[in-house]
Amino acid sequence: MAELAADTRVWTGKVTGKPACGPDTFVLELRLPEAIEPIAAGRFAMLSPAHGEGPVIPRPFSIYEQPDASTVTFLVQVIGPGTQALETVEMGEGVDCTLPLGRGFQDPDPSRELVMIAGGVGSAPFLGYGRQRVAEGAASNTTYFFGARTGDRLYDRSKFENQSFRTVLATDDGSLGFSGSVLDSLVEELDGGRVSREALFCACGPEGLLHAFAALCRERDLEGQISLETYMGCGYGVCNACPVPTRPDGALGHWPWAKSCLEGPVFPLEAVAF
Ligand SMILES: Cc1cc2nc3c(=O)[nH]c(=O)nc-3n(C[C@H](O)[C@H](O)[C@H](O)COP(=O)(O)OP(=O)(O)OC[C@H]3O[C@@H](n4cnc5c(N)ncnc54)[C@H](O)[C@@H]3O)c2cc1C
Ligand code: FES
Repeated sequence: MAELAADTRVWTGKVTGKPACGPDTFVLELRLPEAIEPIAAGRFAMLSPAHGEGPVIPRPFSIYEQPDASTVTFLVQVIGPGTQALETVEMGEGVDCTLPLGRGFQDPDPSRELVMIAGGVGSAPFLGYGRQRVAEGAASNTTYFFGARTGDRLYDRSKFENQSFRTVLATDDGSLGFSGSVLDSLVEELDGGRVSREALFCACGPEGLLHAFAALCRERDLEGQISLETYMGCGYGVCNACPVPTRPDGALGHWPWAKSCLEGPVFPLEAVAF
């Protein structure tokens, strides 16, 4: 059974930035009271406003960037009471955060091709993951597929486009990049031989996208990992709010359920019944 990571801490971070980066999304920048180690891509934090006016239960967010040793940022899409409460926190005020939590993406050997696939704010873990690959000298065999309904929902896209890995954009309405779903653009690149079947494929985004991604991986025999946006209560294994069914023949098959907050949120597709 997985346990809470030894590096997890509870902090109150001070808001040092909250620029909008789309019609419903902003980047929340928090200054922590102490320096922390770099956090592996795909791990997350539980956040709630320190003023106590938001919901009692904090909300989970992927680590987006670590601009310096004591600053961490999050890409926050405002959809309900928890994210609305975070949006009301003013510059200089506090946000309670527990971090880092969970397990991130497997880091393949730099010589192996990596393909990252994001829908909407599912992009959050991939800026750090892509930069990690660049630091490893693996930019030339790393591709990032970034899809959204409309061009203005390709949040913060210039930040991705300015990296040295290749970025492929896709929009459902055709307003930017490939016209169609991000998976359609992936299939086109696979069929055209611009992406290898031997790559490791990692996806994060809405559940519908992840189900279609899982089906594509099964159909084409691709090795895939998914980052699940399961509902969470505590984020560290005590409330049982985040069960994910496991496959009896997979790596987690010893127990029929895994806790997404401890054993995920990133899972190899072969380990979960998804
Ligand atoms: C590990 C992890 C990382 C995440 N990273 C990010 C991130 O980087 N940026 C970001 O914007 N969001 C992220 N999320 C999702 C984010 O936690 C939710 O959007 C947030 O909890 C919503 O809270 P709320 O109170 O504003 O809305 P709620 O009132 O909780 O929800 C509003 C609406 O959205 C639906 N909804 C909310 N959460 C989910 C969910 N997890 N799955 C399916 N439907 C849902 C609800 O059914 C409801 O209709 C992440 C989730 C997880 C588990
Ligand atoms: S969120 Fe509480 S056990 Fe996973």
